[in-house]
Amino acid sequence: MTLKEQKVGIIGLGAMGHGIAQITAQAGAKEVLVFDTDATQLNKQIERIAKGYDKLVAKEKITESDKETFLSRIKACSSLSDFSSCDLVIEAITENTAAKENLFKELSGILSDNCALATNTSSISITRLAACYKNPQKVLGLHFFNPVPVMRLVEVIKAMQTNDQTEAQGCEFAEAVGKTPAKVKDFAGFAVNRILVPMINEAAYALYEGISDAKTIDNTMKLGANHPMGPLELADFVGLDVILSVLEVYQENLSPERYRPCPLLRKLVEAGHIGRKAGKGFYDYSN
Ligand code: 3HC
Repeated sequence: MTLKEQKVGIIGLGAMGHGIAQITAQAGAKEVLVFDTDATQLNKQIERIAKGYDKLVAKEKITESDKETFLSRIKACSSLSDFSSCDLVIEAITENTAAKENLFKELSGILSDNCALATNTSSISITRLAACYKNPQKVLGLHFFNPVPVMRLVEVIKAMQTNDQTEAQGCEFAEAVGKTPAKVKDFAGFAVNRILVPMINEAAYALYEGISDAKTIDNTMKLGANHPMGPLELADFVGLDVILSVLEVYQENLSPERYRPCPLLRKLVEAGHIGRKAGKGFYDYSN
């Protein structure tokens, strides 16, 4: 089934979900149903998608009429029961195991047997989530990267229960929305976050131990390792709460010592200084 024939549902319209909805509508899906428990957030994020298209219009990458076509494919839903005729559903809700498990149980009573159910989790076991769904063979991980419209990769993760057809459907979807799929195993953090998040934690330790100030540490990695953003700036961009929760999953599943979150990272999260979205993290964005 091509993307043009597919109805795709996106649950959770945060930083990742809104980007996934934006590229899926742009790539030509028949319909993109979007749901968020917070109705205000849902409307705000649809406006954000429209602004994303506006930027593409301004750059003459798409026309005003393309923008209207893409937006007309996006349907805001007030209930998950609207997702019953979807061909693919991608959940991008908060990175919390219990919340995702409950959602998968709820979706078991709603989605059709033909529907594939993907999770955009950054670190939680896909196998564990699949076990909460009525058709575990239809569950897979589709892990996108922030900002979704720009980053070229999607990690495609098979749970222990996922069948080959579902994995192939995930790879085809990634390609249809213009991304390069990478098949990776269901281990905490998969490939990218397994490498990236410890690097961010190490940068937090470098700051904590006084190796240098945040800006200098970031500049060392930008100028010395050619990273587009420094690790502390990237942590603020992704969300310090997300980084901390990923490290905790590594501690639980891999090694408590090796992945011990930097005390400074933990303190910032406790203070609510979780990065750009809060106006403060390693840097201050209030001005
Ligand atoms: N949405 C859409 N497009 C965006 C965007 C956004 N949020 N941010 C930037 N862009 C576009 C710009 O419009 C521009 O497009 P153009 O080339 O057509 O003009 C292009 O991206 C480059 O943007 P800028 O010139 O404004 O800025 P930079 O060159 O500094 O690039 C960046 C910005 C792409 C964010 C770059 O700094 C970068 O790649 N940073 C690293 C991001 C990264 O590592 N992401 C992965 C995080 S980990 C993750 O997501 C996993 C999760 O599980 C935790």
